[in-house]
Amino acid sequence: MKIRNLLWSVVLLAGVSCSSGDTLRESAEGHFLMGVAVNTRQAEHPESTDSRAITRQFDCVVAENCMKMEVVHPAEGVFCFEDGDRLADFARDNHQKLIGHCLMWHSQAAEWFTKDDQGNDVTPEVLKQRMRTYITTVVGHFKGRVWGWDVVNEALEDDGSFRESDYYRILGEDFIQLAFQYAHEADPDAELYYNDYSMALPAKCDAAVRLVEQLKKEGCRIDAVGFQGHMTMDFPSVEMMERSIEKVSAAGVKVNITEWDLSILPNPFNHSGADVASNFSYKKEDDPYRGGVPAEVQRQWDERVMEMFDLFLKHRDSIDRLTFWGLSDSDSWRNDFPMKGRRDYALFFDRDCTSKSVVSEMMKRMRAIK
Ligand code: G3I
Repeated sequence: MKIRNLLWSVVLLAGVSCSSGDTLRESAEGHFLMGVAVNTRQAEHPESTDSRAITRQFDCVVAENCMKMEVVHPAEGVFCFEDGDRLADFARDNHQKLIGHCLMWHSQAAEWFTKDDQGNDVTPEVLKQRMRTYITTVVGHFKGRVWGWDVVNEALEDDGSFRESDYYRILGEDFIQLAFQYAHEADPDAELYYNDYSMALPAKCDAAVRLVEQLKKEGCRIDAVGFQGHMTMDFPSVEMMERSIEKVSAAGVKVNITEWDLSILPNPFNHSGADVASNFSYKKEDDPYRGGVPAEVQRQWDERVMEMFDLFLKHRDSIDRLTFWGLSDSDSWRNDFPMKGRRDYALFFDRDCTSKSVVSEMMKRMRAIK
C-alpha cells in the first residue's frame, strides 16, 4: 500500500505547478486531499472555466453521477463506461486521484437489478450473482485508475436501523459485506468506503461504527467512513460533528468529508439530511435570495463554513479527504433539494466560478499550520 501511495504522490506532484500554495490543493498538501464532485459536462469540456478551476484547485475528483449503477449497468449484460472513462482520463491528465461513486445505492440504481421478469424480487442467490457480476466488472474496468470506491451508500436510517432497500429486503445486511468483498477481490489496491449523510447524528454514527467493526470482523477491507457533509445553517453543530469524527476515528478507520455543501437558504422543513426522496413544493418565501445574498446573511454563512472547516483542520490526522459536492453554486444539487427551483449558494465558488472569500481563508489557515 505504501508503494501505491508513493507512486500516486509522484504522479500528483509531477503535475502540480510549483507555486507558493495559492491553490487549495497546494495549501492542503500534508493535511488532506482536496476533492470536488465533477459532472459529465465538466469532464467533457476540460477547457471550460469551471473545469479549469477544478484542475487547478483540486487533487481529487469524484464522479457526481457517471459511475452510478443506472449509468454503468442499465440492463443485464449491458455496461456503459464512456462517461466514467472520460472522467478517469480527466483525472489522469490533471494528476488527480479519482473516487468511484458509488457501487451499491438504493437511488439512481437500475430498476431491473433486483427484479425478475414478473417484477418480483429476485432470490437472494440471483441478487448475489448480479452483485458479483456488476461489482467485479465495474471495479475491474477501472482497476488502477480509481483510488477508492464508495462501495455502499446510505444503507442506514437516521435512527441507526438499516434502510429497507431492495438489497436489504432480499439479502439482509449481508449485501453490505458482499459488496465490500467483491470490490476488494476486483481491485485489491483500491480503498473502500462506507458513505452516508447526517453522520453527525449519534445513533447513525454508532450504527456506522458497528458496521465498520462487523466488516473488519468478517475480514473485509474498509478504509474510511464517508461523512457526506450536506449541511444547513442550523444543522449539524460543530460539537455533533466532532463527536462523530472522534467515534469513527476510534474505530480505526479514516473519515472522508465526501460531499460538503452548506445551504444558505431557510430550512423551514427542519430537514437535516440528504435523503433524495424528500422534496417539498416550491414556495417563494423559501427562496429569498434570488436577487443576491444580504451581506449579514453572507457573513453568517462564511462564519459557519469556517467553524466547520476549523473542525476539519483540527482533525486533519483523522480526515483523509475534504470534498466539495460540486464546484460552483450554479451546478449544485441544492438548487433543487429539498425544494426544486430555488437559488441556493451552498458551494465555495460562485456562479462565475470565482472562489468565495472562504476559500482564501481556508488556504490561509492551512498554510499557517505547515
Ligand atoms: O441524466 C439525466 C438527463 O438525461 C435528463 O435530461 C435530466 C433531466 O431531468 O436528468 C438527468 O439525470 C439527473 C442526474 O442528476 C444527472 O444530472 C437526475 O434527474 C438528477 O436527479 C440527478 O441528481 C443527482 C442526485 O444525486 C440524484 O439523487 C445529483 O446530480 C447529485 O449531486 C446527487 O448526489 C447525491 C450523491 O450521489 C449521494 N449523496 C446524496 C447526493 C445528493 O442527492
